[in-house]
Amino acid sequence: MSQTISRTSATAHDPFDRFPKAAAFVKKVGIKFPLCQAAMDLGPGMAELAAAVSNAGGMGAMGLSWHTEDEVRSFVTRARALTAAPFAAGFVMQGSWHGATQLAAALESGAPVILFSWGTLSPETVALVRSFGAKIGIQISTALAARKAVDAGVDYISLQGQEAGGHVQAMQSWRDVIGSVLHEAGDVPVLVAGGLANGKALREVLSLGGAGGLLGTRFLATRESPAHDDYKRRLALASSADTMLTVCFDKGWTNALHRALRAEVAHYRDDRPLSGDIERARDLLRRCTPQQLSEAAVGA
Ligand SMILES: Cc1cc2nc3c(=O)[nH]c(=O)nc-3n(C[C@H](O)[C@H](O)[C@H](O)COP(=O)(O)O)c2cc1C
Repeated sequence: MSQTISRTSATAHDPFDRFPKAAAFVKKVGIKFPLCQAAMDLGPGMAELAAAVSNAGGMGAMGLSWHTEDEVRSFVTRARALTAAPFAAGFVMQGSWHGATQLAAALESGAPVILFSWGTLSPETVALVRSFGAKIGIQISTALAARKAVDAGVDYISLQGQEAGGHVQAMQSWRDVIGSVLHEAGDVPVLVAGGLANGKALREVLSLGGAGGLLGTRFLATRESPAHDDYKRRLALASSADTMLTVCFDKGWTNALHRALRAEVAHYRDDRPLSGDIERARDLLRRCTPQQLSEAAVGA
């Protein structure tokens, strides 16, 4: 897996002429390629990664749910300084979601796209985003949620499958639901998220009628990503069999499933072992620095 973002420039030949849904999506959001970054909270450095993705012609994103209003302003302002292209500010509508205040901070700072997940959009939220002229995406995982998203008036949908890294709201593979989601979505572009890491996978999505790919893990393993180099190396060597779905990293977001690289520490949660020997788990946790724990929590 190459560890840098391709900077291939568009050619006179339209590479998406066989994929009208992808062509419509890139035109709608104002990007060159139907490749979007998932909204991941990577802390310091995430504005740089998001801007690098957007400058390369995709759409970068930042996960801002767990940040104060000031931090939200600072990340968005930084990304805007680094790119004139569209990028998304991501908000999970659960747990630490403080609703309008964080969202307003992102919008006031000039976030051009808001990408929601884990919830249903209220008319007030949609109206707020629209009042700033920003575009709206939402990550869903079922046909019913796709229907609600269309009714709410979103610009695009990201269909997350259970293959996805990080927090996983999906209970099925995206391959199992893409037909019914596309049916409900109608003309609203549907991106696919979950286990995509190369052109072949993107082509499969486009061939099935998807409008593009939304990738998280693959963008973690780039030079521009602020993830730890050791973690990037492990990601580059890993396959899907090296990942696990766990609730170990729900961090106050009760029972939220999370896909991460298999790590011994992930078999244990709060001193209550899901498997194995509790003394060994305690010892492991004692020896882990907060930095190591948070790196273990980064999804795969
Ligand atoms: C490190 C990491 C953090 C993530 N954080 C969030 C998040 O905060 N909210 C969310 O809805 N999805 C989150 N996701 C899931 C992504 O939105 C997306 O569905 C996923 O990355 C797609 O699968 P992939 O990682 O195999 O490309 C995260 C994914 C990763 C890898």
